[in-house]
Amino acid sequence: MSLQGRHILLGVTGSIAAYKAALLCRLLKGAGAEVQVVMTPLAKEFITPLTMATLSKRPILVEFFDPENGAWNSHVSLGEWADCMLVAPATANTLAKMAHGIADNLLLTTYLSARCPVAVAPAMDLDMFAHTATQENLATLRRRGVAVIEPGDGELASGLSGKGRMAEPAEIVAQLAELLSEKKKSLQGKRLIVTAGATIEAIDPVRFISNHSTGKMGYALAEALAARGAEVTLVSGRTALPCPEGVRRVETRSAEEMYQACVREFAAADGAVMCAAVADYTPEEVSPVKLKKGEGEMTIRLKRTRDIAAELGADKGNRLLVGFALETDHEAENAESKLCRKNFDFIVLNSLRDAGAGFGGDTNKVTLIDRAGREELPLLSKAETAERIVDKIESILK
Ligand code: C5P
Repeated sequence: MSLQGRHILLGVTGSIAAYKAALLCRLLKGAGAEVQVVMTPLAKEFITPLTMATLSKRPILVEFFDPENGAWNSHVSLGEWADCMLVAPATANTLAKMAHGIADNLLLTTYLSARCPVAVAPAMDLDMFAHTATQENLATLRRRGVAVIEPGDGELASGLSGKGRMAEPAEIVAQLAELLSEKKKSLQGKRLIVTAGATIEAIDPVRFISNHSTGKMGYALAEALAARGAEVTLVSGRTALPCPEGVRRVETRSAEEMYQACVREFAAADGAVMCAAVADYTPEEVSPVKLKKGEGEMTIRLKRTRDIAAELGADKGNRLLVGFALETDHEAENAESKLCRKNFDFIVLNSLRDAGAGFGGDTNKVTLIDRAGREELPLLSKAETAERIVDKIESILK
């Protein structure tokens, strides 16, 4: 399983085994991962920040803020950035604090903020490892979903021999890759439709009515769903994007073509994510020849298209339906009314008033709204926004 492009937060704590964190960092980088190192203050006594910064190619983080310039190291943004947090080596002290929610350094506050999978590779003397306190702390962490990469049996820094020696870096990397691939396959066996891009309503053989949608958000969602093992059919309107790997694309042009494709595909699906920007109106008549210009004004009569989402919603049963709303005013009220009218499980609200949100760009700022409430996400890349939306889809489909 590849770690290519994955964001790994590597937490290093104050153990003799911290020297192995250098090799671990190199192996993670070599596997294509982005590594951000967070050290506890004591870890700096065991391995220098310079070594870790050079190997990870990023400044390492230790304190809540930089004492020189006051810059704040946001544990929340670190938690959001990470696909996985790995604490290696993890001392008995850090494990105990993690188990009890103590938050007295940046590594621990980041752990408490992280929503990604977390793995720990304990490293300590055999008696500390065997102590009931440590074992109970590890059991608590396991129960909360933390993956424990078991230490090995062997010679310890104290001169004693027994269980407590941190797993070898290559073994840690292999277990981490497996952990991430498990998360990635959580939608195995689910068939999902994603609509994306803009529809095109022909006026004549040359002109059409369309909109500014580029399809980036829908394509990022299709990719994120496929990466977690879902069988994805991308019902796509106009876009310049290539079809993501492992995704089946059905190309459509008009709202009517997209409607036909969606109804056909929804019959055997577990759900649909309606991300396309579908025209609400289409020319009443399509001229078979190019319309010639005359002296005066011209009027094109438009008729309503079918609302694909609403029609799927009317007959969705217990299948999942996720909608999008792009609003310029009364954002939340409009989105909530669509949530009910179209029978969505939840709706993703974009406001064109938010900087960095909307058409074309690589970032988005959305609010997820369901019948229980609203969750406002920060400004994120479209890929990260897609991951957060897929997390919610996953929690509903489970
Ligand atoms: O009503 P409005 O167009 O704002 O609703 C947006 C949501 O409905 C989006 O999820 C969009 O993909 C979907 N939609 C649709 N068919 C239409 C219009 C909108 O599927 N004809």
